[in-house]
Amino acid sequence: MKVSIAGAGFYGSTLAQRVAEAGYAGEVVLTDIVEGKPQGIALDLMQSRPLAGFETRVVGSNGYEATAGSDICVITAGLPRKPGMSRMDLLEVNARIVGDVTRRLVEASPGAVLIVVSNPLDEMTALAAAVSELPKERVMGQAGLLDSARFRHFVAERLGVPTHEVLAITLGSHGETMVPVPSLATVGGQPLTEVLDQATIDEIVQRTRDGGAEIVVLLKTGSAYFAPAAAAETMVRAVAENTNEVHPVSAWVDGAYGIAGVYLGVPARLGRGGVQEVVEVDLDAGELAALRTAAEAVRGKQQEALGLLA
Ligand code: LAC
Repeated sequence: MKVSIAGAGFYGSTLAQRVAEAGYAGEVVLTDIVEGKPQGIALDLMQSRPLAGFETRVVGSNGYEATAGSDICVITAGLPRKPGMSRMDLLEVNARIVGDVTRRLVEASPGAVLIVVSNPLDEMTALAAAVSELPKERVMGQAGLLDSARFRHFVAERLGVPTHEVLAITLGSHGETMVPVPSLATVGGQPLTEVLDQATIDEIVQRTRDGGAEIVVLLKTGSAYFAPAAAAETMVRAVAENTNEVHPVSAWVDGAYGIAGVYLGVPARLGRGGVQEVVEVDLDAGELAALRTAAEAVRGKQQEALGLLA
């Protein structure tokens, strides 16, 4: 199993560490345009092997030859936002970067599954799918797992319970039209709506929606990467180990939920070939309406992103 990661920033390097330490990949390739950076990170990770207990080979490169024949390629390339910016403010600059990186990755690894994490997420995923010309099931984006993890963390913290007892999904876009789904959330098997009052749930939903921005304000020079990399690693693992798990990801939706022809955050079953199916869960009327609103918002922006490449 060979996993390549484009972009050796905090997100890419943290992801390289998580994948390498998890041990299911024989090789992790980190590529970046900054001379020496991916090589330095790779060497550092390789030197951690006797202590961290993994044998994965980590390679750093400024080109794409070393990525050839990858099974999975993750695109973290692009700029993160600064305080006061929305993810959408990155559309133009990141469209060019993600378009270019996608082309090079797919040229070297035409059989790979692509996982996009660059922002604005759903738009960059659509763009990578279009540029790569890969079957849509082999291109997906990471956002829902991260947003869901944030939601689960806030609920667990509020109730003082272990995070693994809190099950919840977050759908829609990775942005203004994010759709946390309290109606399906459970805590130790009990519905969330029975253990927290509506005002508290609303507050947690809002904090989840603003979860990325809250960290951007604190960091001042970049965006979150520990939880995002954990989310991306979960997707890499699901594909690498063909787990058939259902995770909220940005997937090509063409019919499910009455929504057609758009990349959107939905629950999807993941395995070796990428997205095996989009799973339709029971949403309440408000959540379904919010998901459809998200689809329309994302559709417009995805077209804008594709237009930038023309
Ligand atoms: C976030 C960025 C990575 O949500 O989109 O933290």
